Amino acid sequence: MQPIADLDVLDLDPEADAPAPVSSAPDARGADQPRVVAPRAGTNGRSVFIETYGCQMNVADSELVASILGGEGYALAEREEDADVVLINTCAIREKAEDRVRGRLTHIRARKEKSQPGLQIGVLGCMAERLRSKLLEQERLVDLVVGPDAYRDLPRLLAESRDTGQAAVNVQLSREETYADLAPVRYDTNGVSAFVSIMRGCDNMCAFCVVPFTRGRERSRPVTSILSEVGQLVDAGYKEVTVLGQNVNSYRVEQDGSAVDFAELLYRISLLSPELRIRYSTSHPKDCSDALLHVHRERPTVCDFIHLPVQHGNSDVLKRMRRTYTREHYLDLVERARSIVPGIAFSTDLIAGFCGETDAEHADTLSLMREVQYDHAFMFAYSERPDTYAARKYSDDVPEAVKKARLTEIITLQTEHSLASNRRRVGTEQVVLVEGTSKRSDDQLRGRTDTNHMVVFDRPAGLNKGDYAVVRVDDCTSATLLGSFVRATTLEAESARLGPEAA
Ligand code: SAH
Ligand code: SF4
Ligand code: F3S
Repeated sequence: MQPIADLDVLDLDPEADAPAPVSSAPDARGADQPRVVAPRAGTNGRSVFIETYGCQMNVADSELVASILGGEGYALAEREEDADVVLINTCAIREKAEDRVRGRLTHIRARKEKSQPGLQIGVLGCMAERLRSKLLEQERLVDLVVGPDAYRDLPRLLAESRDTGQAAVNVQLSREETYADLAPVRYDTNGVSAFVSIMRGCDNMCAFCVVPFTRGRERSRPVTSILSEVGQLVDAGYKEVTVLGQNVNSYRVEQDGSAVDFAELLYRISLLSPELRIRYSTSHPKDCSDALLHVHRERPTVCDFIHLPVQHGNSDVLKRMRRTYTREHYLDLVERARSIVPGIAFSTDLIAGFCGETDAEHADTLSLMREVQYDHAFMFAYSERPDTYAARKYSDDVPEAVKKARLTEIITLQTEHSLASNRRRVGTEQVVLVEGTSKRSDDQLRGRTDTNHMVVFDRPAGLNKGDYAVVRVDDCTSATLLGSFVRATTLEAESARLGPEAA
């Protein structure tokens, strides 16, 4: 999922702070640019400021928190300094992500002690469970610690901590909670693209990963509530949804005596509007079925792009990582996808320097990258996380300098591949969904192709955010396609033009 504040992520995209449905990994905005809320009136005289770190799931969760607290009369404050309650929605995926959050908490705590004694500071999200005792007792940084399945309890916990002056805690994980009935408050939105959570938790237990510990068991949200939320987004004028989960393609619910899997869910979402682009993040290679690939092929609004994290290119390392597939399985899957959905684009996540990684094993990651030729990637140095299988069973034995050097090689190679992927599109016409103005100039618009490539082009009169346009690609950098406007269009018109195969 698109990360928000993590310096060890390389994001090659200078336009990347658009809601970019790409990866489930924390993103590259930098720690100084977390997502914050827009002002909204309240009725109980109190206001809350929410700052979100980590992946898109956390962004979606902050929208739920805004909804829950809005329902209790809290206003959303624009600036941290104006709020009665500051909530930090945290990420624990790598050590750096945790360090950064701790730095923020220390800073806010100092301000509270100096000038705002009534301020309530809360930690939400993925650091909650593991760090609750440390944050509350040893460091006395926070008044509230609330885990990802306990957000409905927030109003009560806030009142309790205010009344008692003591810290209030609920880090209980649930096997059922999906917040299915809540309408998220979309406060940080371009009005064009939205995230929709379809499942929570993860059962995969990859050896390196803290997520199953921080977010609990996997559970899928009922189909009807997903379709109803997407329907409301369509009615509100949204043109793109990214359905979210740590492992979206293991989505499965029983409904009316039969099972609905991820392929079926996507198909049903695609029936809601011919003008709504559909993306998803993030998918596990073990669950990428042929049925899903056929939905990509048959439904023109299901984008021809898959974020398919491989993590590593060597089968022994994949086994140590407990990813449950081999290099060969993964390459077969990519080939199958390309034969069923010609032109489909791929992005991935890669980890450098996992426990015991040899030079030869690392070289296999580079060779896999050369074989697949990813359009985009999120790349990380391995960071040991407490309680994970890797932390318990293996030694974090690749020296930091070697991890960094290997990561640099991976990043350098990916930059070449991203450039090549963009160059292949020069001279083509692409259907672009306009997301807003370019960061560099108000005279230019920015949007994405079906394959998730960022395009910037001169703004023609009358074309607005949320419109589709055919854009001819004239040039590119490794991060962005540079194009010129050809004509305004609709998705329906384009799929009709491409013929029955695409319709
Ligand atoms: N559910 C997603 C991944 C979520 S975490 C999936 O399985 O694809 C996002 C990415 O962070 C992972 O894909 C992985 O590349 C990276 N990551 C997770 N734990 C890590 C760790 N301990 N050190 C470095 N990178 C890690
Ligand atoms: Fe973590 Fe693996 Fe689950 Fe992804 S699939 S969240 S990497 S345990
Ligand atoms: Fe996401 Fe970070 Fe939690 S990546 S699931 S916010 S540990």
